[in-house]
Amino acid sequence: MKKLFIKTYGCQMNAYDSARMAALLAPIGYGVSPTVQDADLVILNTCHIREKAVEKVYSQLGRLRKMKEARASAGDEMLVAVAGCVAQAEGREILTRAPGVDMLVGPQSYHRLPEMIAKVSRERGHALETDFPALEKFDALPAATGDAGVSAFLTVQEGCDKFCSFCVVPYTRGPEHSRGPAGILAEARALCARGAREITLLGQNVNAYRGQGDDGRTWSLAELIAALADIKELARIRYTTSHPRDMDDSLIEAHGNIEKLMPFLHLPVQSGSDTVLADMNRQHSADDYRRIIARIRKARPDIALSSDFIVGHPGESDADFEATMALVREIGFAQSFSFKYSPRPGTPAAGARKQISESVKSERLAALQALLMQQQDDANRASIGSVRAVLFEKLGREPGQLVGRTPQLQPVHAAAPASLISQIRDVRLEILTSNSLGGRLTQRESALA
Ligand code: SAH
Ligand code: SF4
Ligand code: F3S
Repeated sequence: MKKLFIKTYGCQMNAYDSARMAALLAPIGYGVSPTVQDADLVILNTCHIREKAVEKVYSQLGRLRKMKEARASAGDEMLVAVAGCVAQAEGREILTRAPGVDMLVGPQSYHRLPEMIAKVSRERGHALETDFPALEKFDALPAATGDAGVSAFLTVQEGCDKFCSFCVVPYTRGPEHSRGPAGILAEARALCARGAREITLLGQNVNAYRGQGDDGRTWSLAELIAALADIKELARIRYTTSHPRDMDDSLIEAHGNIEKLMPFLHLPVQSGSDTVLADMNRQHSADDYRRIIARIRKARPDIALSSDFIVGHPGESDADFEATMALVREIGFAQSFSFKYSPRPGTPAAGARKQISESVKSERLAALQALLMQQQDDANRASIGSVRAVLFEKLGREPGQLVGRTPQLQPVHAAAPASLISQIRDVRLEILTSNSLGGRLTQRESALA
């Protein structure tokens, strides 16, 4: 068995792709290894979203080159592949900055990896595969095997047609494309057969999902979720990431009607200023966002909200930034991600004249993050004393402890027997530690339960 080491950067879709690459390479003799030192093949599954993400990849490639040379002088070969969004965006440029890379494979082409490995081994040249083939890469991939984990990801949609001013995704992942519902439902059933109880549907614009059914009908995300909810072994359904523009009535209603759809919504708003939103080409206003949130809260009052924010987009004034702070104060988020604007080559905002200084970006980010942290803390504190249904996922750090999540995605640890992994139990939340809520099972479970 040859050893494969995969390092994953970026979003959950990359995590999903990495698992699929491992499944793809198993039949040709590669087994996943936790260490890079003795790997025969190293895959970096990369992210291009911000400059920092890309820098991490290049410094890792520098280290790999040294390792590769050391291995070569010992008469040993280590192949290095760059997969994912940096491969797609930078293509052959990577080879100039990082000699020692043997293969480049974009996010839509990794089903070609076995061919590429054979080619490189034969010719010792560089192989490049970054087309956006019309073909469904998912159909070309073998089914994964082994334990799926209690909480699994399932990619249902890829790509983006929205072209926000700051973002590389439309260039790295190509146009919006949805998988057919039949393949998704089959994969979901297979995941459940391999132990999954929760599935998170993934897509760069997952709520733009429009799948072609075998019946010729186009399915919405709400319809897909309803069909998934019929799978008996599946207890919880989530989806991410959504765009405000695609938050349609049926999906909002689904939050009120489908019990298995969890009360959590990650809905990036980016900014609270209409001027900045227009500059960003988001095609929604701050009030559109407020209206969506009001409707979703009406459909599902206990829903926890999450968002992404960018500070320091070109042209963002103090007043624009204040509008973001005001929107956050008004809505209240249970958790969030926030970033300093990072100019990305080839995107419209990178060429804009009114770039914001690093120091202003840092100041704004610090203020925003303090507010968001406070809200997260408040949301968690407010749940102390309440009883929540926790899906236990795995062993905790302390002996005799399990970790899991509430419907609102809060991480929880509690004393519980290992037999409760993959089970849902009521837990009374008691304390808030730095990264988790501590609780107690409401019913005594026997150690053999
Ligand atoms: N499709 C999703 C998000 C994709 S990227 C959406 O539309 O919401 C995840 C997050 O990274 C974005 O929501 C945005 O907040 C952030 N991001 C994207 N490009 C960025 C850039 N150039 N600089 C800083 N943050 C960025
Ligand atoms: Fe990027 Fe905007 Fe598309 Fe999201 S919607 S992936 S932020 S271009
Ligand atoms: Fe990064 Fe590509 Fe995902 S740029 S965030 S890995 S889609």
